Amino acid sequence: MKKGIHKVGRNDPCPCGSGLKYKKCCLKKGTEQPASVHSALQYAKRHNILLKGPEDVEGIRQAGRIAVESLNLVEKEIRPGITTDHLNTLVHEFTLDNGAKPAPLNYRGFPKSICTSINEVICHGIPENRVLQDGDIVNVDVTPILNGYYADANKTFFVGTPGPDAVKIVSIARECLKLGIEQVKPTNTLGDIGWAIQHYAETSGCSVVREFVGHGVGFEFHEAPQVTHYGRKGDGIRLLPGMVFTIEPMINLGKRHLYILEDNWTAVTRDGSLSAQFEQTVLVTDTGYDILTPFDDAP
Ligand code: MF3
Ligand code: CO
Ligand code: CO
Repeated sequence: MKKGIHKVGRNDPCPCGSGLKYKKCCLKKGTEQPASVHSALQYAKRHNILLKGPEDVEGIRQAGRIAVESLNLVEKEIRPGITTDHLNTLVHEFTLDNGAKPAPLNYRGFPKSICTSINEVICHGIPENRVLQDGDIVNVDVTPILNGYYADANKTFFVGTPGPDAVKIVSIARECLKLGIEQVKPTNTLGDIGWAIQHYAETSGCSVVREFVGHGVGFEFHEAPQVTHYGRKGDGIRLLPGMVFTIEPMINLGKRHLYILEDNWTAVTRDGSLSAQFEQTVLVTDTGYDILTPFDDAP
């Protein structure tokens, strides 16, 4: 049986929240399944979106704490002269020490436990023995699995003293994520999130990568829906309480186009311009959002 809300059995707790069995409550009263359950079933069937219940949310939040602490660890350690492999080892060991597993390791053949994306690398950079230089920007993306629950987060760091272009792209990428998250509430759609991000990035003279998107997360690494970081207001599916997905805009200082290196993972800007990214795992609540990977987004 897949996780998520599929159907309410006669002996299940009534979805109206009464605490009674379904058969003793709404089923008996002849009440239709509440609108929220009806739409949950629809979302599962039509869009393959599995809504998360309170227990699932707490599980993802616990995994999220390991994600946040991993990023904090990286923050303390990052400086000119260290390698991205060193950051990989650090997070790998920290993750295991906390009873979790790093989802990237061996995911579709990915060879390491985190992604480290330097300067013009957009995403999916592979940790290696390259030494970080003063003025580099590095995105570190972590995804711990704890008790079967996934949380996904990333942040772009400065190495030493950043130049003006680095300061600009990192602050715009950070703001894009913030504006995207602020659109998260029931009644809004996925398109509202994409529009807010694209509008800010493009009016700032930057561009939004389209080949990679945010995604549902929690039971698996990558679930439905896809969360594009561009779009039009009101387009796409409506957000429902219980949806958990990432928002992770990749913003380029130059044009949006990319290519993939020979390793089949590393995505770089085609024009060689700097690229920055921030990612959070976000829950849709009845009134708005709750961030399940609440890291400090200062660089
Ligand atoms: N963490 C990335 C994301 O935000 C995915 C990395 S896939 C990997 O979706 F294989 F490179 F780890
Ligand atoms: Co992600
Ligand atoms: Co990620």
